Amino acid sequence: MSNEGQGRDIQPADGTLGILLVGLGAVSTTTIAGVESIRRGLTKPIGSLTQMATIRLGKRTEHRSPLIKDVVPLADLNDVVFGAWDPISDDAYDSARNCGVLRPEDLEPVADFLKSIKPMPAVFDKAYVKKLDGSNVKQGKNKYDLGEQLRADIREFKEKNGCDRLSMVWAASTEVFMKPSAVHDSLESFEQAMRDDDPAIAPSMIYAWAALSEGVPFANGAPNLTVDIPAMVELAKRNGVPIAGKDFKTGQTLMKTIIAPGLKTRMLGLNGWFSTNILGNRDGEVLDDPESFKTKEESKLGALEYILQPEMYPDLYSHMYHKVRINYYPPRGDNKEGWDNIDIFGWMGYPMQIKIDFLCRDSILAAPIVLDLALFMDLARRAGMSGIQEWLSFYLKAPQVAEGLYPEHDIFIQHMKLKNTLRWLAGEDQITHLGVEYYD
Ligand SMILES: NC(=O)c1ccc[n+]([C@@H]2O[C@H](COP(=O)([O-])OP(=O)(O)OC[C@H]3O[C@@H](n4cnc5c(N)ncnc54)[C@H](O)[C@@H]3O)[C@@H](O)[C@H]2O)c1
Repeated sequence: MSNEGQGRDIQPADGTLGILLVGLGAVSTTTIAGVESIRRGLTKPIGSLTQMATIRLGKRTEHRSPLIKDVVPLADLNDVVFGAWDPISDDAYDSARNCGVLRPEDLEPVADFLKSIKPMPAVFDKAYVKKLDGSNVKQGKNKYDLGEQLRADIREFKEKNGCDRLSMVWAASTEVFMKPSAVHDSLESFEQAMRDDDPAIAPSMIYAWAALSEGVPFANGAPNLTVDIPAMVELAKRNGVPIAGKDFKTGQTLMKTIIAPGLKTRMLGLNGWFSTNILGNRDGEVLDDPESFKTKEESKLGALEYILQPEMYPDLYSHMYHKVRINYYPPRGDNKEGWDNIDIFGWMGYPMQIKIDFLCRDSILAAPIVLDLALFMDLARRAGMSGIQEWLSFYLKAPQVAEGLYPEHDIFIQHMKLKNTLRWLAGEDQITHLGVEYYD
């Protein structure tokens, strides 16, 4: 698909953008505190492509590399307001204090702003997140009714805050493992199941349904199914709304999708990849429940298989053993430690090992992803792009793709896809890196 020279018709990013966050825990509060600190000139938007990255346009001899935000119209951070839902009634300041990601000296200067963000009552059911309790919860006749209440929240928030547009991101706890079932196959069966209080309808799906019904883009930062079911794809298409998922690509999987493509490009073999983590935040506690862990495990395991393609390279990857472990260890809080032991082999089969010890900060890595997803999804909406936004798989551990496609996990291909989509939106030439013309 080429539209060189004739960019996509994109509505301007004028007015206020409301970013609605489901969950007001570590990731959400770190995102909000960071955006407010940036607005007050206290810090820089490190890790965010929408704020910091440039994009090369045209030939290398043209020396054109503007900022992404100068090439496509993105909402300005000064025009962003935040809202959230959470079953725990702490405001964003108290929640951020409890989560312990940011130091008091970084929280205090934006305390007034954080205190002003109070979570709306959540659609929450302990059956889907076993290790959590909360009283700031909606009551309703059935799941359809709960969805209607969320729709009313969305409309009220928009009205009260004078928003021109909204963008929603799921940054709430990981729900128990669920497989797609017949009720997820069409919007009609999905809505009937909502009325029937069917257990196959998880709270995250009710938020997604409410967002898409209101024409609000929805990105899923956790590994739950949520929008990755035919019924939600149908609703997104019908209402012309973008969707993306799932699971923010932050610590260990970020490393995996950086390193594995490199090994493969050099045709080095892999016998095994053992990954283990210790973390002590609430996310770690939720993931201590085997059913929530199973959801996460599925999401974390996929990347290597897709990147290495053992069916195409049986000599290199068919005996690869891949294991992922997450251990809840309270003393570490949000400061996770992730170890990787990688057993590789080279010429004549000689074994070698790579060890990675990533002293990572989960929410620090996730916050710019939340911001970028919210802004790019809003851009997609204004550009008339609806349904699955595969070009945003760069940010996601288990990218949602069209039926019949395999997900692309290689971060370098994902990055090229993202930038080429932006060039396509702006009516600029795609960059293939062929470069023969420089030598003619
Ligand atoms: N931090 C990362 O690097 C990272 C990476 C990938 C995915 N994630 C995912 O992002 C999500 C958020 O992570 P976190 O570290 O902020 O966790 P957290 O536990 O600090 O925050 C999650 C919040 O969601 C709330 N919540 C649970 N169910 C809800 C519901 N039905 N409606 C509204 N709120 C609900 C909880 O009360 C909690 O406050 C998790 O699912 C996590 O797995 C995080």
